[in-house]
Amino acid sequence: MTKEKIEELISQLTLQEIIDMIHGNGCFCTKGVERLGIPPFVTSDGPRGVRKDFENDAFKELGLSYDYVSYLPCNTALAATWNRELAYATGKLLGKEARGRGKDMILAPGINIMRTPLCGRSFEYMGEDPYLVSEMVVPVVQGIEENDVSSCVKHFAVNNQETRRLDVDVEVSERALRELYLPGFEAAVKKGKAKGVMGAYNKLRGMHCCHNDYLLIDILRKEWGFEGITVSDWGGVHDTEEALMNGIDMEMSVTNNYDSYYMANPLLELIESGAVEQKTAYAKIDEKVRHILHVMNELHMLDGKRKSGTYNDYQDKAVLRQTARESVVLLKNNNHILPLDKKKIKKLLVVGENANRQHAPGGGSAEIKALYEITPLMGLHMLLGGNTQIEYQPGYFNDDIGNIWANTGESENGQADSLNQDGEKAQSLPSTESKDQSEEKLKHQKEMNEKYLKEALEAAKDADAVIYVGGLTHDYDTEGQDRNDMKLPYEQDRLISELLKVRPDTVVTLVAGSPVDMAAWIDSADTLVYSWYAGMEGGIALAEVLFGDVNPSGHLPESFPVTESDCPAVVLGEFPGGDQVTYGEDIFVGYRYYDTYDVPTAFPFGYGLSYTDFVMTGIRAEVLEDTADHKSVKVSFDISNIGDMAGAAVAQVYVADKYPKVKKADKELKAFEKLYLEPGETREVALILEKDAFSYFDEESHSFQADAGSYMIMLAKNADEVVDVTEVEFTS
Ligand code: GLC
Repeated sequence: MTKEKIEELISQLTLQEIIDMIHGNGCFCTKGVERLGIPPFVTSDGPRGVRKDFENDAFKELGLSYDYVSYLPCNTALAATWNRELAYATGKLLGKEARGRGKDMILAPGINIMRTPLCGRSFEYMGEDPYLVSEMVVPVVQGIEENDVSSCVKHFAVNNQETRRLDVDVEVSERALRELYLPGFEAAVKKGKAKGVMGAYNKLRGMHCCHNDYLLIDILRKEWGFEGITVSDWGGVHDTEEALMNGIDMEMSVTNNYDSYYMANPLLELIESGAVEQKTAYAKIDEKVRHILHVMNELHMLDGKRKSGTYNDYQDKAVLRQTARESVVLLKNNNHILPLDKKKIKKLLVVGENANRQHAPGGGSAEIKALYEITPLMGLHMLLGGNTQIEYQPGYFNDDIGNIWANTGESENGQADSLNQDGEKAQSLPSTESKDQSEEKLKHQKEMNEKYLKEALEAAKDADAVIYVGGLTHDYDTEGQDRNDMKLPYEQDRLISELLKVRPDTVVTLVAGSPVDMAAWIDSADTLVYSWYAGMEGGIALAEVLFGDVNPSGHLPESFPVTESDCPAVVLGEFPGGDQVTYGEDIFVGYRYYDTYDVPTAFPFGYGLSYTDFVMTGIRAEVLEDTADHKSVKVSFDISNIGDMAGAAVAQVYVADKYPKVKKADKELKAFEKLYLEPGETREVALILEKDAFSYFDEESHSFQADAGSYMIMLAKNADEVVDVTEVEFTS
């Protein structure tokens, strides 16, 4: 449909019809205009797959058989692959399944920067570095939207904690906003051509993000040229006039009093009252519906030429398994205990309740009604077959539901209730248990842990090998709350420590969506493997890595601090703050802080081992352009696989300003390549660094600047391991 046709359509819409199109009239949809052939607009969560269907007017699941879907690795797992091709492939799968399930917009991906490891929704996001986020979000968006489905990049912006998420007011410098918190969204919009952006619940500098004109008009529309739809988070609109004037196109919420939404009757009344100059008011609502019709047109919703999509295709399991494989991060492997040898292990002991736990149903709106989910225990059985006896010991007692929103009979509408909590309560599990019930529960848990610990230690004595699978669950990694600390729950520290005493060769694997505190046992462990909520194929992928069918190639997308009190948001800034939270750490988030302030971490950003060894050498740089407006440098280096196993390395390129005019981080990631090399193979790699690789945001000129001067270009295996350095000089 041409722009003229769309304008003609807009001119035919009544005020009421326009109002109906710009606010929800169902949990996940807005009204269409049948007489003009405009369909309803149907959205669905989320980043890990297409969420189950609910009743139209309440978050009460229908419980039918048709909405089991593919369960994709969480966004942190995807980021841990550092594989742009897998980002595209998983985005394509997500978009195909969203179309196949009749959706017009998938509310994904989530890309908020991991400012603190305690953020409950870290698992839904892509880590701490804006460059890695930008490089991974673009192919995800492109993949999704290839299927005539809109992505919806979220949560715009600075939604970096769950505590007081509905109203916390974020104070952050313009420089940190521009250098850290916005680049992923900018890439998604400008490079990815994303058709949807979701406003965040929180405020930025005193104004709710869902109707913040600086974010939604000045930056998103005027600077970035965004032509798609801005959607509020569910219940994120709080003011009718601001919603009219400040750039939100579609108000969604969790209640079914649709006509009372801020952009429903109250907006109609505001316009008809004349409180806003009529011409302006009508221009503003036309703009909203224009964005919606533009996206509908782009999705072929108006011309009958739309892709139909599908879901649960068996051939898609390959990309899910490959993504899960490449997300596994090998953090320790002393004495080459790993990979385990199938031929030598006839009696395997698997300890840890996370070996047996399925995580898809948890996490809040990212929950998934998975067609299936292979747990690590099942993956081990699948891989080893019938000639290996596998004994399972839970090791610790965990009878949590794994979903703080699960309709426990207390609530028909867990998601809606989660918004009814004031900030304080949002910090803890929405428990309806009385105090003595929790004490009773704690006493029972300790008794059971004692029992399970004894049974696990007894079983460990005569096993050929012991694999521990612990970590977190979605009672800790979840929307609606942050963790209070990084400690492993269910008394796992004691269990792991005792297990390592009995079996120092225990293979320790953790399944989690965010960093945990390992200080109690990390020095006693010879092995450590980190696997995320890695989707329906996660359990077999982990098993394949542990037994060497797959060479691990995951790298941490976020720093693992020793403990939460080392985190810059706590040391230099505020977390979680109160009515307001000040990002006092400014740009020094993640490795930008630990590196620059020499604070040791348990494991650094970008870290990941392999079963083979890589050597990266011979970095050299050639300045291609050196003007005030254009700077570019060709960086080359060689990488070799000097081990005896094929594998993939992630070559990371960091840049540092040798004599910065303003305080800068010691180095920043500005390029990376994932390279698969056969044993003995050497590859020359060439990358181009553009001006933005040398730029910082200058608040005085309110623009990015790349100063003349000397820059170091570092070739690294991770943020703590620079293997080669060269320098370039810009004269202008
Ligand atoms: C939730 C989340 C958002 C989700 C939306 C719809 O509260 O913040 O990520 O897409 O509401 O469920």
